[in-house]
Amino acid sequence: MPGIPEEKIEEIRSSINIVHYISQFVNLKKTGQNYKGLCPFHTEKTPSFIVNPEKQIFKCFGCGKGGNIYTFIMDYEKHSFVDAVKKAADFAGISLPVTEQSAKEINYFQKLYQINENACEFFEDILYKPKNEEQLNYFLKRNISEKTIKAFRLGYAPDSYDQLLGRLKNSVLDLQEAAKLGLIQEKEDKGKFYDKFRHRVMFPFQNVSGKIIGFGGRKLREEQQPKYLNSPESPVYKKGKILYGLHQAVNSIRENGFVIIVEGYFDLLRLVEEGIKNTAATSGTSLTEEQAKLLRRYTKDIYIAYDGDSAGIKAAIRNAQIIEKYDMNAFIISLPEQDDPDSFVLNNGLAAFKELLKEKTLPIDFQINAFLNTNKNPSIEQKDSFIQEILSSLLEMRNQIKTGLYIHQLAERLQINESLLINQINSLKRQKYRSFRSKNKAGEEVSSTVKRRVHSGIYEAEKGLIGLLLNSTQEIQNYIIANVSYELFENEQLLHIYEFIMQELEEVGKIDLGKIMQSFQEDEESNKVISEIAVNDYINEMKFAKDCIFQLKKWDLEKKAQDISSLIKTEDSSTESILHYTQQLTEVRKEINQLVRIHRGILKI
Ligand code: GTP
Ligand code: MN
Repeated sequence: MPGIPEEKIEEIRSSINIVHYISQFVNLKKTGQNYKGLCPFHTEKTPSFIVNPEKQIFKCFGCGKGGNIYTFIMDYEKHSFVDAVKKAADFAGISLPVTEQSAKEINYFQKLYQINENACEFFEDILYKPKNEEQLNYFLKRNISEKTIKAFRLGYAPDSYDQLLGRLKNSVLDLQEAAKLGLIQEKEDKGKFYDKFRHRVMFPFQNVSGKIIGFGGRKLREEQQPKYLNSPESPVYKKGKILYGLHQAVNSIRENGFVIIVEGYFDLLRLVEEGIKNTAATSGTSLTEEQAKLLRRYTKDIYIAYDGDSAGIKAAIRNAQIIEKYDMNAFIISLPEQDDPDSFVLNNGLAAFKELLKEKTLPIDFQINAFLNTNKNPSIEQKDSFIQEILSSLLEMRNQIKTGLYIHQLAERLQINESLLINQINSLKRQKYRSFRSKNKAGEEVSSTVKRRVHSGIYEAEKGLIGLLLNSTQEIQNYIIANVSYELFENEQLLHIYEFIMQELEEVGKIDLGKIMQSFQEDEESNKVISEIAVNDYINEMKFAKDCIFQLKKWDLEKKAQDISSLIKTEDSSTESILHYTQQLTEVRKEINQLVRIHRGILKI
């Protein structure tokens, strides 16, 4: 949080009684451990809004809203988080010496945006000066129209050491700030500066809301280095967190239901020029997880149109893995080896490119194609190492249906027994899960983007287990820890919460509800769920824990059985593999049976 230290936020939260705070707005009556009243977030006649003083949270069982004091202030009084903290600090009579600093910080960001905005206007203006006709023509010759130039605010940084500097001096008080943005550079002779971008066509980077956060400048003379000069990272520009052109693409992505990602600025401009506006560029690197998450706000279907060369192919595959890790759908557009989308469209026309879009392939097929293209007659060793590579990348993917499909494809096209592949991947999975806990301890991010269709009983069981972890005795907690592993969770959100709790238990040894809520502060849905779970009371906790675990384990085995059955159905190959699956299925059914018997107490272990 800018300016306000975590401990302060915690101190304020813990010094306010949420019942007192909410009583300002809601008539609360004590019932048992809780206070009850009419929900301020929706209209109701009978109270379903409760405030729990012990846990310091609120929850409405009518509309679902819930959270801690800060959530309440943000949602009810419509404040930002920072303002909610200030408000709460006021209420608690705690002074917040840092508030001024956070205001400063906001001002500082605004100032940096403004400096970039000034520079952007300067580069734009100068492109249209008659003496720079050649630079304007550079764009026009590459078939970029004035309309696109304007829409993307393209510009020109003149062949000069002091023109931008001159412009900035008029408006910028502290040139060090412009230097921090990489627009100018301080000379050895301190206090003197010179322009950093010289004789380059300029591509401003905009964040999703359109603020200028940095620039890329393309060289215009052969001997200039580098080809593209980019702004350094700065407080407003973090590499790998934005996508070039996304600001302009957002509406079109929503309309079309997918986005095309390309490598280069000119690839993007070419497609936009041709009317394909749902395009964003990664600017020469492969997609980062942050960029994938950013795209997920707008669509789940990502088409990757990277250069046709081997570097492009590699990057496309890497991108697809990241996309699938976040349970989005990746499709790869194959371009001829010598082309990028820009040159392809220029040489072959829009219709040909649209054909390529139609022929999009799943990453697995694309990978197999690439492998078979470079290895016409692969040896067993080559096949083996290729398969290992694919299988380990499939591990990241938590969509089981897709994994199954990919394995099927792999088996068919490389003529390998499918059951061998399944055994392999299962053993890789076990290895991975075994190392999960130790990894998690190291604070590494664990992929957790499963979103299978969730069975409501399963959802309740997952919630139940989290509720018990939050509310029950250490004995029950230990029982759950010993018997539940994270792959049993189906719901992504609950999985996140569960993982967080596990991490807390490992690192701190206890659970602090306030801290959990704090970490999910930004996520309204999770806040609702946590507050609901946290106020639940459980009768006969051990039995409840056992029931929940039983349900999850049984469902897990049932899924396995379903997967195998569907493999048997789709399997058109040898009776040998059908036999193999049938055996597997019998095994799984036995396991289910045993689980049920143990649960009913028929079988003692
Ligand atoms: P043209 O050659 O003008 O068509 O540009 P391009 O976009 O096709 O360039 P290229 O295929 O060489 O590179 C793709 C993308 O990688 C570019 O758009 C840049 O975002 C990035 N890139 C290329 N060269 C450099 C470089 O020297 N430095 C940096 N930082 N990025 C580069
Ligand atoms: Mn190019």
